[in-house]
Amino acid sequence: TNRQDERPGKQRLLVVANRLPVSAVRDGVESYHLEISVGGLVSALLGVKEFDTRWIGWAGVNVPDEVGRRALTKALAEMRCIPVFLDEEIVNQYYNGYCNNILWPLFHYLGLPQEDRLATTRTFQSQFDAYKTANQIFADVVNMHYEEGDVVWCHDYHLMFLPKCLKERNDKMKVGWFLHTPFPSSEIHRTLPSRTELLRSVIEADLVGFHTYDYARHFVSACTRILGLEGTPDGVEDRGKLTRVAAFPIGIDSERFIQALELPEVQAHMKELKERFAGRKVMLGVDRLDMIKGIPQKILAFEKFLEENSHWRDKVVLLQIAVPTRKDVPEYQRLASQVHEIVGRINGRFGTLTAVPLHHLDRSLDFHELCALYAVTDVALVTSLRDGMNLVSYEFVACQASKKGVLILSEFAGAAQSLGAGAILVNPWNITEVAASIGYALDMPADEREKRHQFNFRHVKTHTSQEWAATFVSELNDTIVEAQLRTRQ
Ligand code: G6P
Repeated sequence: TNRQDERPGKQRLLVVANRLPVSAVRDGVESYHLEISVGGLVSALLGVKEFDTRWIGWAGVNVPDEVGRRALTKALAEMRCIPVFLDEEIVNQYYNGYCNNILWPLFHYLGLPQEDRLATTRTFQSQFDAYKTANQIFADVVNMHYEEGDVVWCHDYHLMFLPKCLKERNDKMKVGWFLHTPFPSSEIHRTLPSRTELLRSVIEADLVGFHTYDYARHFVSACTRILGLEGTPDGVEDRGKLTRVAAFPIGIDSERFIQALELPEVQAHMKELKERFAGRKVMLGVDRLDMIKGIPQKILAFEKFLEENSHWRDKVVLLQIAVPTRKDVPEYQRLASQVHEIVGRINGRFGTLTAVPLHHLDRSLDFHELCALYAVTDVALVTSLRDGMNLVSYEFVACQASKKGVLILSEFAGAAQSLGAGAILVNPWNITEVAASIGYALDMPADEREKRHQFNFRHVKTHTSQEWAATFVSELNDTIVEAQLRTRQ
């Protein structure tokens, strides 16, 4: 078949995620240019090479007309991507509304939207309806491209309704679902009005994966307490049917970072940065501008550190890269103004005519600039209030082979479970503790830095995104689809 011709010997893997690894930006009626998307999921899966992988997802742009849709489908095909078209109203209700205003904050323990509770209650149902409609549209596209023997791997909180939709269309389809965010305690999940429908759909998958053992355990508790099912050491059992539930901690394509450091343009950026910040220690934060990242908490801790340590004021600089994200959601707009206000205050208080202690950038950097920045950093600060894994911490470690800088890492990031022994773990809500950790990190003796770095570097080098994906898909292959079981009996 043509499958074999495409990537001989490789299994076909359909990766279904809300966002494709590239987003389309419309230049004209029929022309688009493609930009690499940001976010943990994309950066992890780009490194996966052992499968004949197709991506199915939303192109991040509204294309109402057939001509535009055909043009974009063709452009994306070259990147092995298949677009799912969603109209503007659905995107607003499904993506801005249900996904990013309800599920995202809830799964990160920020609760359901607090403002105007009654309005929230009224819009909730229509947003959930749009969510289900969007998931049905995804399912139709997957079903159209599915060939027998493919494995279908659904990703993240946008697509919790998808396993059910897929099994309804073809019960022989092998379906995995992986969550890139935390799965919260069942007591949090049970506040969600659609708690039951979502859990019922997810357990239709053959394999359900999370970053950490705790998230997997929370999910199993939610199924036992809310659905009344039985939890087993392997997963969740519903009338004799087992859904396997397990932890699969993600990683990065560490070689890509390590090798990039040798490139002349990266070296040139490093030289520039070193000259620019000569005589000062460099501290770095890289985050999407998202409330879960604890950016205000981070810069308030930095302010406290400067307040209490006047001798450091002209010897340290914090570079905070805050990549804009989900700009149509009001909560994100409020966060941006809040952060800008604190940044202005700190620079007003501690800046001089020639230097400021805090550089805040509202944009992303290209890959080479980012690698250079990671490599020249003395102390990286990851202060997420909750974070599924946090791959920035992995990327920083991968680029630190010569500098052996210090990672200050929130204990509420999934990465704390894997990089905890090498990092300084902090509670980001405790500004005093974070400020003290900054001082400790800046003064840390070389032998301690070396030891901590080696621990983390070994981990990041061996637990890669490739290995993560291979493990998940091989376990998925090993599960027995119930329809197959019925045929055998
Ligand atoms: C997180 C989510 C991803 C998402 C990314 C970027 O990493 O787990 O699913 O793609 O954020 O957010 P966005 O809303 O721009 O896709």
